[in-house]
Amino acid sequence: MANSVSQRDSFSGKYGFIAAAAGSAIGLGNIWKFPYITGVYGGSAFIIVYLICILLIGLPVMLSEISVGRRAQKGVFGAYKTLAPGTPWFFSGYMGIAAAFLILSFYGVVAGWTMEYVVKALAGSFTGKNPDQISAMFGDFIGQTARPIFWQVGFMALTCFIVIAGIKNGIEKYSKILMPVLLVILLMLCLRSVTLDGASKGFEFLFKPDFSKLSGEAILAAMGHAFFSLSLGMGTLVTYGSYLKKTESLAPLAGQITIADTVIALLAGIAIFPAVFAFGIEPAAGPGLVFVTLPNVFAQMPLGNIFCILFFSLLAIAALTSSISILEVVVAHLVEDFKVSRKTATLMMTLVITLFGIPSALSFGSLSDLSIFGLNFFDLADHIASNFLLPLGGLCISLFVGWKMARKDVADELSNSGAVKIAYLPVFLFLARIVAPIAIATVFLHGLKII
Ligand code: TRP
Repeated sequence: MANSVSQRDSFSGKYGFIAAAAGSAIGLGNIWKFPYITGVYGGSAFIIVYLICILLIGLPVMLSEISVGRRAQKGVFGAYKTLAPGTPWFFSGYMGIAAAFLILSFYGVVAGWTMEYVVKALAGSFTGKNPDQISAMFGDFIGQTARPIFWQVGFMALTCFIVIAGIKNGIEKYSKILMPVLLVILLMLCLRSVTLDGASKGFEFLFKPDFSKLSGEAILAAMGHAFFSLSLGMGTLVTYGSYLKKTESLAPLAGQITIADTVIALLAGIAIFPAVFAFGIEPAAGPGLVFVTLPNVFAQMPLGNIFCILFFSLLAIAALTSSISILEVVVAHLVEDFKVSRKTATLMMTLVITLFGIPSALSFGSLSDLSIFGLNFFDLADHIASNFLLPLGGLCISLFVGWKMARKDVADELSNSGAVKIAYLPVFLFLARIVAPIAIATVFLHGLKII
């Protein structure tokens, strides 16, 4: 036992952990979804609510996840088994693993689309096309059979390749390279966007508060998105926390990841909306915003094709550092609890999840008529995971830390056995015990259409 603990792979230190965890948090959620829902739900008023959710719910749940993982030195399933043996808490671990499975199955599909768009942009396919043609290109592409599957498989193979290499030499190494690249590309796009004539309308759209648009639904959407964007509720950060050394202080790390995720989401909004407005294009909803609207924007922009290549590469990179964190949740479970080798576990799970994602890849083409509870396969996987499993997983972890774990154990973990001061402990416990569970339960019940 002692031997297997000492052989456990780990992050090399603070920066490796931050790069990997921020890489997990920063993904399609930030660059595609955040700007779009911010627009729909009233711009800056929505952003204010989102920031409050991040602070009052996201941060305590994140700190809970990291502490549980590091204390147990196990992924999400093993963590509950270790810290609360003989109790049913481990069921929450199963939910996390199921959520990972579902999310990665459709996440890989959308990430595959971004790779197709990098190639399309490299080939100059958008140059000289009008908005209708560009919109038709998207519909035509996702409606096909072989191409979306080809890119989904390609993206999943990349994810598999990195996860097989392990924590230090895989996840950490690639996150440390890819995250700075992502930041540089995003800053370049921001610079380009804000210097366009007419950019100010985009800023108004994003940052001029319009509290009249702030419905109850907007508040719930802000909470739900805080979860997805910070990679919470599935055990990603339990798993990453388990690879963190006992000498790192946890609260500052959680704070830094949260800030990085939020800043990148805001930068993505700044990169996208001023350009959309400067070229007089209506901000379209859903997948269209990134895959239809932006190629239009780039087609009208000087040197637009270069920015188009950069943008979709950025999206693919952001998706990759997130998808590896999702796969790792499942792989860690097989490695720790079934003693399968990392390589076999990763290959097997990649294969199964990719196969399971194929109906999602076909949901806009040959399987578009297939409807389960009124949703296509793609939306169903997203729906079950995001509205059901993630909130429930988040609720469990905050209740676990707030009520099940002994206060002295929580204090011991957060203070590195007394080495660092944790004056924030009462505030944290109040958030984890009361505020976060009530708020999450509200989102959850809303997702089930009960309230
Ligand atoms: N946070 C990522 C994004 O914004 C997606 C993601 C990665 C995720 N790991 C997760 C979402 C765990 C929920 C749970 O795109």
